[in-house]
Amino acid sequence: MLKHDIVVVGAGLAGQRAALAAARAGHDVALVSKLHPLRSHSGAAQGGINAAVGKEDSVETHIYDTVKGSDYLGDQDAIEFFCQQAGPTVIEMEHFGTIFSRSDDGSLARRAFGGAGFPRTIYAADRTGLALLQGIYEHLGTETIRIYEEWFLLSVVVRDGRVQGISAFDRRTLKVEGIAAKAVILATGPFGRIYGRTTNAHSCTGDGVAAAYRAGAALKDMEFVQFHPTALMESSILITEGARGEGGILKNVNGERFMARYAPHVLDLASRDVVSRAIVTEVKEGRGFPGGFVHLELMHLGKEKIESRLQEICDFSRTYAGVDPVTEPIPVYPAQHYMMGGISTNMKGEASIPGLYAAGEAACVSIHGANRLGGNSLLETLVFGKQAGLAAAEFVASAPDTEIRAEDLEKETAHIQQLWNRTEGESPRALRTELQQTMDQLVGIYRTPEELFRALRQVRALQERYRNVRVIDRSTTYNIDLTDALEVGNLLTLAEIIVVGAIARTESRGAHTRLDFPARDDKSWMKHTLAHWTVNGPELSYAPVAYTRWEPKERVY
Ligand code: FUM
Repeated sequence: MLKHDIVVVGAGLAGQRAALAAARAGHDVALVSKLHPLRSHSGAAQGGINAAVGKEDSVETHIYDTVKGSDYLGDQDAIEFFCQQAGPTVIEMEHFGTIFSRSDDGSLARRAFGGAGFPRTIYAADRTGLALLQGIYEHLGTETIRIYEEWFLLSVVVRDGRVQGISAFDRRTLKVEGIAAKAVILATGPFGRIYGRTTNAHSCTGDGVAAAYRAGAALKDMEFVQFHPTALMESSILITEGARGEGGILKNVNGERFMARYAPHVLDLASRDVVSRAIVTEVKEGRGFPGGFVHLELMHLGKEKIESRLQEICDFSRTYAGVDPVTEPIPVYPAQHYMMGGISTNMKGEASIPGLYAAGEAACVSIHGANRLGGNSLLETLVFGKQAGLAAAEFVASAPDTEIRAEDLEKETAHIQQLWNRTEGESPRALRTELQQTMDQLVGIYRTPEELFRALRQVRALQERYRNVRVIDRSTTYNIDLTDALEVGNLLTLAEIIVVGAIARTESRGAHTRLDFPARDDKSWMKHTLAHWTVNGPELSYAPVAYTRWEPKERVY
């Protein structure tokens, strides 16, 4: 049986940072990933990473902006710690080798992002995630971290009230294996593929979040789903908020700069929930372009600025929308982008089961509350990835040995055998498509109880059909059909929790907008939602929000 002190699952920025911290604390660390680490979704992050590093900016303003952006659902003690770590984290990444864009005086270039009181988003053109990922990846090689590449997580093994390790299968051989570990850190990223219209990569299926939930861990604030205002029409490829940070403006079919109606002070640079609602409203009220979108105009910025600061945006727009941003507007509409919810952790990344940790988008600390600010996600992966690695290292130093027994693998092996042996049944891809249609149509930016209940019925019907899912492809190496079947099971599990949480929360806060409860209700709902697995579906309970200094106020941009 394979054995390590600490197993990190997921090799994006959070996972790599956690693995590095734990290995540098002297432990035997394994990194398990269904992808090559450099193909992780962190590499798709475009616009930048927030840190108050200049003289004019302050950590205090970063904290305030984040608290306000969260619509007062973020835990203020965690936000304070997070923002204080921002400067040192960016400097550390620069020392790791990330090459950030520079201002004319040689200092770190910063751009404006939505909901921020100061331009504090540090960037590497519009490939910031990739630049960070490449920087940190080179350091993994300086440690003896065992990388299990192309291994798919099946379960977190819990026995005697604590984590014993994981089960996973090697995609090259389809063999189910156990890896014993005293601590497991889940950094498997988001689950945006619950939606069809999403900026998330196809690999974003919440495998770690679903495994933690099935193992008994609490998930937090799952109803809060972020939609990015500007995704390309048709493909939903992200058009970075940096485009508006550089001066891009949104216009409707009448040529109006419509954000003046919704955010008179900051216009296009309001927080994402506000801008996304504005675009949907414009389109619903007949001021969108035929086909249902608005325009993002960059032309006035000039060719040199557009092509140097927004290189990917130029490529994506030209290749996937057939428009040249230097001379034409870009057709955009919101798409799912980020999950505020995830595995409930504290600031050290500790989840609710001893020995289990989580970091990055798979986790919910919570620093983003009901709405995340752009640029805070890359920072989160690095700050809390490191914290989880350090905390796990401390934990395993005095933790007793663990083991994976044959019986710990029986359930997962039987599940895979069933999928494999079934000769008739449902196609995983068809179930995934139907789930995505359900979520796109019924659990979007504006939510109604009728649509949410319809979504719940449909998701549960799909879960029933999933019991009969089959794998058609017979190949025993890199069987994509089998991976698809497992991933869609995870998506269905997580979709149900989002919908149940959204039905229960009878208020509007941040990204959760209920048309039947349009106001924020601090008296009843200033609390986190926790979801636990039961045979009858998710059981909800609630936990208080941590306050330090910021009294809830009306949120105006
Ligand atoms: O718009 C963007 O570049 C996205 C950034 C983020 O989600 O933090």
